[in-house]
Amino acid sequence: MTTIAPLTEADHDEWIALWRGYLAFYEADLDDATTAATFERLVDAGSGIHGALARDENGTAVGIVHWLTHAATWTTTDYCYLEDLFVSPEVRGGGVGRALIAHVRAWAEQHGSAKVYWLTAESNATARVLYDRVASRSGMIHYQISLS
Ligand SMILES: CC(C)(COP(=O)(O)OP(=O)(O)OC[C@H]1O[C@@H](n2cnc3c(N)ncnc32)[C@H](O)[C@@H]1OP(=O)(O)O)[C@@H](O)C(=O)NCCC(=O)NCCS
Repeated sequence: MTTIAPLTEADHDEWIALWRGYLAFYEADLDDATTAATFERLVDAGSGIHGALARDENGTAVGIVHWLTHAATWTTTDYCYLEDLFVSPEVRGGGVGRALIAHVRAWAEQHGSAKVYWLTAESNATARVLYDRVASRSGMIHYQISLS
């Protein structure tokens, strides 16, 4: 059975292994200082960034999810943005990803968010199988201006 709990300092080594797997999935080369700062913010209750870790029945860490909320003009509450989701390749297809999304949804409901939303690559067919089952497509297209 999968258990999901908020990230704590004690989870660092297991978190970083999953985080590195996630970065590798995206072929992202993130500097260590940013990774360290991200973890510190994830375990700092006042930072505004939240994280949870999934463990299997043996206590092995098998997945992570990170999210944050932001104010919005179309609601008097806020929106919850699910930024990162990763499940160990060895346990994929077993419901961990679905459980991690459900965890964020429950958290957002408890904290009064008007919605949970996230982005994914159009080409991420595996993730989209799951997303099409638990959410609806917004129809929006994502634009950005990268600033150095
Ligand atoms: C996307 C990801 C998080 C899904 O995690 P997961 O634990 O495998 O997801 P689940 O097992 O909860 O899958 C939920 C549903 O999708 C289906 N599914 C999962 N992987 C599938 C696959 N490769 N092919 C077909 N269906 C699949 C499952 O059968 C399940 O459906 P069901 O519950 O109705 O039976 C995982 O594949 C992953 O970490 N991928 C790499 C990183 C990534 O893409 N992150 C998301 C970025 S936006």
